[in-house]
Amino acid sequence: MEISIVDRAYAAQNLDRFAAILVQNVEDGAVVGFVLPFTREQSETYWKGVFSAVAEQERLLFCATIDGQIAGTVQLYLSPEPNAPHRAEIFKLLVHRDFQGRGIGTALMLAVETEAVRRARSLLILDTVLGGAGERLYRRLDWQEIGIVPHHFLDPFGVPRASVYFMKLLDLSNDDL
Ligand SMILES: CC(C)(COP(=O)(O)OP(=O)(O)OC[C@H]1O[C@@H](n2cnc3c(N)ncnc32)[C@H](O)[C@@H]1OP(=O)(O)O)[C@@H](O)C(=O)NCCC(=O)NCCS
Repeated sequence: MEISIVDRAYAAQNLDRFAAILVQNVEDGAVVGFVLPFTREQSETYWKGVFSAVAEQERLLFCATIDGQIAGTVQLYLSPEPNAPHRAEIFKLLVHRDFQGRGIGTALMLAVETEAVRRARSLLILDTVLGGAGERLYRRLDWQEIGIVPHHFLDPFGVPRASVYFMKLLDLSNDDL
């Protein structure tokens, strides 16, 4: 498995794959911002917006590839506010169902932490659906729970779900990351 931070050109060339991974995850019930029915076209529109943010250097787009094929992805939003140069947020950790349970999600999150340290972003924040695979993964990686928001969003089937907010403080002097 290889993990890299990709540019807009690479991302655009792989629009089909990004779109397919998101559609597949939403169809499988992942709570990642969309409800069913969720079309390939809607997915492409979402990704094109992400690719623009990548070009603006507002977001970093990470990809895990296996034999050249994208298996998973995650984004790091570099908070642009003048009073938040130390902060970043994690968006859309997605691993294609064919590749789940092999450590790709974990590897993507560790790569995000390494890059955040490199960019002196010491405070990371994310939210995820309560009771989901993401929550387990973040707890395993020592993310600290901030709190639970009831009825934060709908799952793809329209059912209200709560979210858990997590934070992680990174030690910028830690060379081990
Ligand atoms: C959440 C998600 C990203 C996790 O990705 P993943 O690649 O499956 O994650 P990992 O493989 O690192 O970890 C998942 C499990 O596999 C296990 N695992 C990791 N490597 C393994 C290996 N080599 N062999 C067997 N099991 C392994 C982990 O211990 C973990 O087990 P646990 O969940 O019981 O604690 C993935 O399930 C997904 O895309 N879900 C839908 C989208 C979503 O909900 N994203 C989160 C939004 S915030």
